[in-house]
Amino acid sequence: MGERKVIAVLGATGAQGGGLVRAILSDASGGFSARALTRNVNSDKAKELANLGAELIAANVDDVESLKRAFKGAYGAFCVTFFWDHFSPEKELAQARAMATAAKAADLKHVIWSTLEDTRKWVPLSDNRMPTLMGKYKVPHFDAKGEADKVFIDSGVPTTLLLTSFFWDNLIHFGMGPRKGPDGKLLFTLPMADKKLPGIAAEDIGKCALGVFKRGQEYIGRTVGIAGEHLTGAQMAAALTRALGQEVRYNYVPPDAYRGLGFPGAEDLGNMFQFKRDFEAAFCGARNPGVARSLNASLQSFDAWLAANKDRIPLE
Ligand SMILES: NC(=O)c1ccc[n+]([C@@H]2O[C@H](COP(=O)([O-])OP(=O)(O)OC[C@H]3O[C@@H](n4cnc5c(N)ncnc54)[C@H](OP(=O)(O)O)[C@@H]3O)[C@@H](O)[C@H]2O)c1
Repeated sequence: MGERKVIAVLGATGAQGGGLVRAILSDASGGFSARALTRNVNSDKAKELANLGAELIAANVDDVESLKRAFKGAYGAFCVTFFWDHFSPEKELAQARAMATAAKAADLKHVIWSTLEDTRKWVPLSDNRMPTLMGKYKVPHFDAKGEADKVFIDSGVPTTLLLTSFFWDNLIHFGMGPRKGPDGKLLFTLPMADKKLPGIAAEDIGKCALGVFKRGQEYIGRTVGIAGEHLTGAQMAAALTRALGQEVRYNYVPPDAYRGLGFPGAEDLGNMFQFKRDFEAAFCGARNPGVARSLNASLQSFDAWLAANKDRIPLE
């Protein structure tokens, strides 16, 4: 085999990027090597990746010059932004511009942009079914990512737009797991009515991304949507019941009630779930589990993810 192609991975110490770094490193014959980008090469998480065989390079998505240095000599890059660290769509757009600029300067051959829909194409600001947020968004943490698709395309960098899905890991880390109701029984709350929610194990996103890099030309210039499964809230509650060995009931709350829950980002997430509920066919249609499995043969179902992770879900 010739020289390995270097993939520079943003968010390498996090969920999506970490999955990709681990996928590259465990694919000895795959022809790629992992360059993990991090703001702190001395953190425990960064050192863990180095111990597995990743190259570590310091970079910050707010600093285009650091990205140019980090992308230099690489074949490709996995680009992702971190909305929940700052809650600013404008910042995500600026960071996408910096990544695309650096990718062009480094003459990268393949970039994957981890994106989501600009929901304003389905729900214009004049549509009052959900409130407009931050002056010009419906789902701020989606819309700027979707808006940034054009930034990558216009930069001329060979790009694949990767539409991701709801991480099942949100049940562990994002307070979205089952909670005890007034009668002490577990309730799994989603504002989805009887509509299906495409979900995925976060670790599988990186594995699918590696599949995209491996197929190269086939995916450049295309959008690919991935999910592990499309499940209703009732189906997720039934799977939780089986995995936890105690009854979990699905609790539908209307998006308006969810928006009013008062935690940071509640309005954004309420609008997001309403978008997924009201545009189920388009949203599910854009995320094909069969395609995801063709990119990642070990793609997990929700049952499989629960079997491995059920003990990590806090039940309050
Ligand atoms: N949760 C969901 O269901 C879901 C679904 C679809 C999409 N998303 C999107 O996923 C994105 C986050 O991805 P993730 O969950 O993989 O991230 P994550 O696990 O939160 O990891 C983010 C990593 O990125 C690095 N980072 C943060 N700020 C940085 C900066 N300024 N420059 C360089 N690196 C920085 C941090 O590493 P260092 O500290 O080592 O630098 C951190 O470990 C969000 O934008 C969210 O909207 C989430």
